Amino acid sequence: MKTSVIGLGKLGAPLAAVLASKGHQVVGVDVNPDFVRALAAGRAPVDEPGLQELIGRSGGRLSATLDCEAAVLGSDVSFVIVPTPSDSQGGFSNKYVLSALASIGQALRKKRGYHVVNITCTVMPGAMNGEIRQALEAASGRQVGAQGENGVGLCYNPEFIALGSVIRDMLRPDMILIGESDARAGQMLEDIYRATCDNNPPVRRMNLVNAEITKIAVNTYVTTKISYANMLAEICERLPAADVDVVTDALGMDSRIGVKYLKGALAYGGPCFPRDNVAFAHLARSLGARADLAEATDRLNRHQTGRLAAAAARLLDGRSRIGVLGLAYKPGTSVIEESPGVALAARLSEERFEVYVHDPMALASAMAVLQDKVVPIVSAEECVQAVDALVIATPWPQFAKIPAATFARAGRRLQVLDCWRMLDRDKVGAVADIHYLGIGGLEPASRIRAVKS
Ligand SMILES: NC(=O)c1ccc[n+]([C@@H]2O[C@H](COP(=O)([O-])OP(=O)(O)OC[C@H]3O[C@@H](n4cnc5c(N)ncnc54)[C@H](O)[C@@H]3O)[C@@H](O)[C@H]2O)c1
Repeated sequence: MKTSVIGLGKLGAPLAAVLASKGHQVVGVDVNPDFVRALAAGRAPVDEPGLQELIGRSGGRLSATLDCEAAVLGSDVSFVIVPTPSDSQGGFSNKYVLSALASIGQALRKKRGYHVVNITCTVMPGAMNGEIRQALEAASGRQVGAQGENGVGLCYNPEFIALGSVIRDMLRPDMILIGESDARAGQMLEDIYRATCDNNPPVRRMNLVNAEITKIAVNTYVTTKISYANMLAEICERLPAADVDVVTDALGMDSRIGVKYLKGALAYGGPCFPRDNVAFAHLARSLGARADLAEATDRLNRHQTGRLAAAAARLLDGRSRIGVLGLAYKPGTSVIEESPGVALAARLSEERFEVYVHDPMALASAMAVLQDKVVPIVSAEECVQAVDALVIATPWPQFAKIPAATFARAGRRLQVLDCWRMLDRDKVGAVADIHYLGIGGLEPASRIRAVKS
């Protein structure tokens, strides 16, 4: 199948590479000449584990251009993966989608042959059958759902991926979700995925609005689960000898609940979860339905920075130098949107603490936001050694491997707030005081062991 991928960002570039690696002919399009130049030269335009290797394995099937018209004319299916930023009411703006559709439509006026336009970006329920369908029909002069050589199919096919594991998630998805204007369009997409995924995933095909609702419902369900686990963590840390990991581990054994995303720790962040949840509440309100659950999830999430900052300030006990290890919103990415570590660093600096920060990938992007409010430290070890108290805000696996001796101090022991409970209690706990979020009374590890035994 010949495909064009319009938008070569964090999601589009990996999708283009995944499709090409599985034998499809792919032409990528972007308005950013740097991204096009990079991909055309065989270089990954964005940071994503495994992307560079996959581009290398695309065997000449992957090309890139600034010319959207040529890309559409040379393909059967166009994936549109451009930004849909949040708007002032909490929904999503389709302005980049509409601009991409104007170019696609112009090309379709010159093309003979059926074409499928597949919107992969996140849109608000109602948009596909509303302004998106109208824009495509107006620009192309074709009727959505019409067959024959002047026909055009419209699909909504969001990806359920996490940054840092995008390629794995695309190759082995839990499900393929396809909203379709007509069966032929949906079948073409299903065929592409059947030839692309490694795990023969279940495919759910439905009308456009059901797919739109399903997309933000999935993310809102997951955020609810995270906020639930965080609520449990806060309860546990107020009850002596309570341990949120023990509770959630058992809770997750119930097959109605499951263990995934049930770790009581910090706020969810990133480019999708927070805004999808807010958009879901906005959708419910705009329809006159109850939005309470999504709103409570968001309120609990926003509460986490204050909860964490208060716990960190208690550990400093009059001292001022505090380190934040982890600024990316999750491991494996340099993305810092709505990152708990960045929010914590900003809050602590407002409270006049001297804040030292480190992240293996996200230091530069975080410093662009935090600027001179904090001190960037290139090595995790040096960050640990520079401070009186330390917060582990992102569970990068390498933080668990920092040698225990790095945490040792002459005089007052280093106070460590280990939000993800990843440090070695025995080795690091022997030379520093480790405090765990979600464990009764935020006691140092040595005391917790005593209580448990
Ligand atoms: N990043 C994620 O984790 C993720 C996950 C699920 C869904 N999404 C959704 O996918 C969409 C894209 O997200 P992203 O993270 O890849 O965004 P991104 O900002 O990383 O990339 C978007 C790309 O589109 C390009 N672009 C904008 N207008 C264009 C046009 N008219 N023609 C061609 N290219 C154009 C931009 O230059 C940019 O390179 C959004 O709707 C987002 O909500 C993202």
